[in-house]
Amino acid sequence: MRIGLVGTGRIGAFHASTLAGLDQVDEVVLTDAVPGAAETLAAEHGYGTAPDVDTLLGQVDGVVITTPTTTHAALLRQTVAAGLPTFCEKPVAMTLDESIELVDLVESSTVPVQIGFQRRFDTGYRRARDAVRSGDLGFVHTLRANTHDQAPPPAAYIPTSGGLFRDCSIHDFDIIRFVTGREVLSVYGVGANKGDDFFTEGGDVDTCAAVLTLDDDTVVTVSATRYNGAGHDVRLEVMGSAGTVGVGFDDSLAVRSAEDGVDYPRGPQKWSFMERFQPAYRRELGVFADLVAGRVSSPCTVRDGLQAFRIAEACELSRRRRARVDLAEIPDDSGTTGAGARSA
Ligand SMILES: NC(=O)c1ccc[n+]([C@@H]2O[C@H](COP(=O)([O-])OP(=O)(O)OC[C@H]3O[C@@H](n4cnc5c(N)ncnc54)[C@H](O)[C@@H]3O)[C@@H](O)[C@H]2O)c1
Repeated sequence: MRIGLVGTGRIGAFHASTLAGLDQVDEVVLTDAVPGAAETLAAEHGYGTAPDVDTLLGQVDGVVITTPTTTHAALLRQTVAAGLPTFCEKPVAMTLDESIELVDLVESSTVPVQIGFQRRFDTGYRRARDAVRSGDLGFVHTLRANTHDQAPPPAAYIPTSGGLFRDCSIHDFDIIRFVTGREVLSVYGVGANKGDDFFTEGGDVDTCAAVLTLDDDTVVTVSATRYNGAGHDVRLEVMGSAGTVGVGFDDSLAVRSAEDGVDYPRGPQKWSFMERFQPAYRRELGVFADLVAGRVSSPCTVRDGLQAFRIAEACELSRRRRARVDLAEIPDDSGTTGAGARSA
C-alpha cells in the first residue's frame, strides 16, 4: 500500500517514519507547500515525493494530513472528493463551522476518515477505560486530567493552532469522552499568560484550566501549560467509590516528591509528546493502514473530533466571558444546538 503524507513539519516527519516502519505500508510519498522540504526529508529516509497535493492524490491509497490546523478543512475536502481514506491530525479544523461542515461532508460520503487522537491507542488510557466500564471503580465521581508540555512550540505555530484549549486540552477532552463514555454538559474555563509575549500577542494563553461537569454529574478538572520545565507531563486520574486508577504514573512522571525518603519517581522524565506516545502513534497509524485496507472502521471519527472541539470552544468562550457555559449553547450541526450530541 502507498500512503501519501501532506505536511513534513514536526509531527509529519515523525508520522512518516512511523508509517515507513509498518508492515502494511510499501511506500510513503510526501508533499509540502515549502519547496524542497519534502524532497530533503525523502532523500534522508528513502520516501517518495510528489510536487503538489493533486499529484499526490493520484498516486496513493490513503492520505495522512499533518499540515497546520488552518489548512485541514480544505485538504480534507480534497481527499474526500478523491475518495481516499484519510487520517487527519487533530483538531479537525480551525473553526466550529468548518468542523460541522466536515462532519456533514464525511457522513454523507463513503470515505473513511480517522482523526489523530493517539491517546485512544495508549495502553494506560485503555486500561482506565476498561476499569470504568467493568465497574471495578464503583461509581466514578471525579477525574483529573492534565497536558503539561515541557516547552512551547515555535512562536509561528501559535496563530495557526486555534489556542491552548483547542490545540492542547482537546486531547484531554477527547480522552475523557473515550474513557468515561459520557458527554460534557457544562464547562468553566480560565487562562493565564506567564511566559513569552507571543501568546498574548496572538490572543492566546500559555496556561489554562477548566472544570467540566459530565452528563452523569461526574466532576472533571483539566489543566494545560506550555511551560513545564520538569518534563512532558500527561496524566489522568479516574476516582470512584471503589477505587482509583491513574495514567502516566510511572518512573518517568515529571514530578519531584517533596516527601522525606521517597525516591519515586526515579526518572528519566519524558521530554516530548513524541517520546511519551511513540507506541500509541504506531498503533494509531497501524489501525489507519487497516482502515485503508478496508479491514476496520474509523476508531476516531470526524464527529468525535467535533465533540472534542465543541468542549474546547465552550472553554474558550467561558474564559472570555468569565462565566460557566453549557454545551447546549455550542452547535453540533448546521441546524440545531448541541443538546442532541451523539455519544462516542
Ligand atoms: N496528535 C498530536 O500529538 C500532535 C502533535 C503535534 C501536532 N499535531 C497537529 O499536527 C498539525 C501540524 O502540526 P506541526 O507541529 O507538525 O506543524 P508544523 O508547522 O511543524 O508543520 C506543518 C507542515 O505543513 C506544511 N504545510 C503548510 N501548509 C501546507 C499545505 N497547504 N500543503 C502542504 N503542506 C503544507 C508546512 O510547510 C510544514 O512543513 C497541527 O494540526 C497540530 O495540531 C498533533
